Amino acid sequence: MEGNSRFIRSAQGEPHADLPELVRRHFAHPFRKPILDYNRQAYAAALAARAGWNPKAPLILDAGCGVGWSTLRLAEDYPDHFVIGVDQSSDRIERGKPLALPGNAVFARADLVDFWRLLQADGVRLARHYLLYPNPWPKIGHLARRWHGHAIFPSLLALGGVLECRSNWSVYIDEMALAIALATGRPAVGEAWQPSGEPLTPFEKKYLASGHALHRVVVDLG
Ligand SMILES: C[S@@+](CC[C@H](N)C(=O)[O-])C[C@H]1O[C@@H](n2cnc3c(N)ncnc32)[C@H](O)[C@@H]1O
Repeated sequence: MEGNSRFIRSAQGEPHADLPELVRRHFAHPFRKPILDYNRQAYAAALAARAGWNPKAPLILDAGCGVGWSTLRLAEDYPDHFVIGVDQSSDRIERGKPLALPGNAVFARADLVDFWRLLQADGVRLARHYLLYPNPWPKIGHLARRWHGHAIFPSLLALGGVLECRSNWSVYIDEMALAIALATGRPAVGEAWQPSGEPLTPFEKKYLASGHALHRVVVDLG
């Protein structure tokens, strides 16, 4: 089960030709989709948990945390930071959690499209921001569903910090790097990469066991 993940098949072998224009358009036109109440509630609860632990703690966002291994590992690796793991799937967020979570971590069941905008509206800045194995949407016509092709991208970047995106699809990472460089003027380059220790997430573990190459881009957005 763990070692038989299929390789990504896509008709797209390089960054999408429409990406620069799409990014430009998203920066020119604000994204106005209404924010849903359940996301506001999840956001308020997550920030209250941080305030209860240490309101000044630097913040790490594990965006699309799945079952949350990475959230727990990051909380351990950065004991003076507060880590919020966000995922839209209640099944994944609730699955297999220890009875007592570390004091410096919380899980939020929310749509990132709203969660990112709520952080931005409050002027919150992140210390670190992880996008670990986001859904790749490999069909050519799905460019606007990838985070860098989505209208939310300006809000995601506005949160600053060290942004790290990992994927088993090099095109996703090359596109992410290109979109970051276009939007911020900061050099951003995708790289082939191997974790040095234990896999940080279940998807990372599954891809490694299946012999996939892994790729990432890491950029300090300041
Ligand atoms: C491929 S999984 C990766 C999960 C985990 N990071 C890992 O590496 O094991 C992508 C995750 O992103 C979550 N996700 C996708 N779109 C989302 C959204 N708009 N808001 C919140 N979570 C989202 C999915 O529910 C899923 O758990």
